[in-house]
Amino acid sequence: MSAQPLSFARSEKLFARAQEIVAGGTTQGKAPNTLIPGEYPIYAARGRGATLWDIDGNAFLDWILAYGIIVLGYCDPDVDTAAIGEIRDGFAFPLTRPVQNELAELLVQVIPCAEMVHFFKTGSDTTTAAVRLARIATGRDKIVRWGYNGWHDWCCTRDAGIPRHVRDDVLTFRYNDLNSLEDVLKQQRDQVACVIMMPLEIEPPQPGFLAGAKELAHQYGALFILDEMRSGFHLALGGAQEYYGVTPDLATFSKAMSNGYAISVLAGKRELMQALSQTYVSSTFFTNSIEMAAAVATITKLEREQVIPHLWRIGKGLMDGLDRCARDLGIEAQSVGVAPMPFLQFTYADPEIRETAKYVFYRETTRRGLLLHPNHHWFVCAAHTEQDLARTLEICEQGFRAVKQELARGFRAPTTQKVAVTVST
Ligand SMILES: Cc1ncc(COP(=O)(O)O)c(C=O)c1O
Repeated sequence: MSAQPLSFARSEKLFARAQEIVAGGTTQGKAPNTLIPGEYPIYAARGRGATLWDIDGNAFLDWILAYGIIVLGYCDPDVDTAAIGEIRDGFAFPLTRPVQNELAELLVQVIPCAEMVHFFKTGSDTTTAAVRLARIATGRDKIVRWGYNGWHDWCCTRDAGIPRHVRDDVLTFRYNDLNSLEDVLKQQRDQVACVIMMPLEIEPPQPGFLAGAKELAHQYGALFILDEMRSGFHLALGGAQEYYGVTPDLATFSKAMSNGYAISVLAGKRELMQALSQTYVSSTFFTNSIEMAAAVATITKLEREQVIPHLWRIGKGLMDGLDRCARDLGIEAQSVGVAPMPFLQFTYADPEIRETAKYVFYRETTRRGLLLHPNHHWFVCAAHTEQDLARTLEICEQGFRAVKQELARGFRAPTTQKVAVTVST
């Protein structure tokens, strides 16, 4: 049975005003139209642990978690105390704070490829620096990339405003298909500076795929770079490179590393990292230290409290529970991804039925108090408990029942509200 719609009156009023004074109303990838319009909150009031309250007073058990930057839970006391310590001492100086060394020491211990690191503020900063280093190291211009790597010219997912010559220098290949990677490298012989890729998104790597990609990159004289913004501090402390046992030449991390504070890091082999001195990378805010202290506290806690095994356990429970429930109710859906970053895919062959199932499921689960993203994999955090898991599965079961009922009565998702946008963040 369908649940009552929630009220988002205050959110909608603020958003209407925002559209007059903020271009796009909000950050593109986080815009409400990437979710199901009218069914998701827009403005947050506060968060604690795995719960988020919106400004209309609705509470949600959150599995989006700011797209993976929250790994311990909202307002983690240890992380926030470390950040507040920096605020009290001052965090923006013309000098560097010692906490930078502390964080670097931790990262070179936990990230397999990290002989040296360099700090930035955003993921796009860091992937762009990685590509720059690859161009310096190889003297070549072309890039072969896969997945989402940020919004800068070389990796923007839309063409508008990007010079043709920049687009021409960037090629891609099919995931889990080494032949397609080799074809590109062969065609561009002696011109490719690096293969830069997310180690995985929703589809996990087939055995040997990541090692094969590294081998091919090297065979064709290119660097192998893993973009671990999402996999880092989720799959293992040392990222997918530790989990799958494939050490890249360079790697980029951010997101979960600091439980929400804005910092990113480029890590890699010493001789490659030292080439940063041949170029210029800088930002007004690069030495600000709140986020460095937050990262030290986050990584220390992830390790001390064995958080990553917890992410795997809860995520596996979620994936298994969803599969069991879908099977029992005859819903064509299956869990995909890896346990710390799971997702649910509806598999109906008819696209209209598939979109309707998705629309109804996410409408119903949101109305019942879950935040699950319809177009982006979800994330598990330390604050998700066994009870949260059980409650989530109960609500998902109700969501599946509603899908069944709505399909049986011939309901179809409104075309203007079809969940068609793919979010990349
Ligand atoms: C894999 C990956 N690379 C790069 C980025 C870009 O990071 P940012 O949005 O901080 O620039 C993201 C952001 O979601 C990402 O998921």
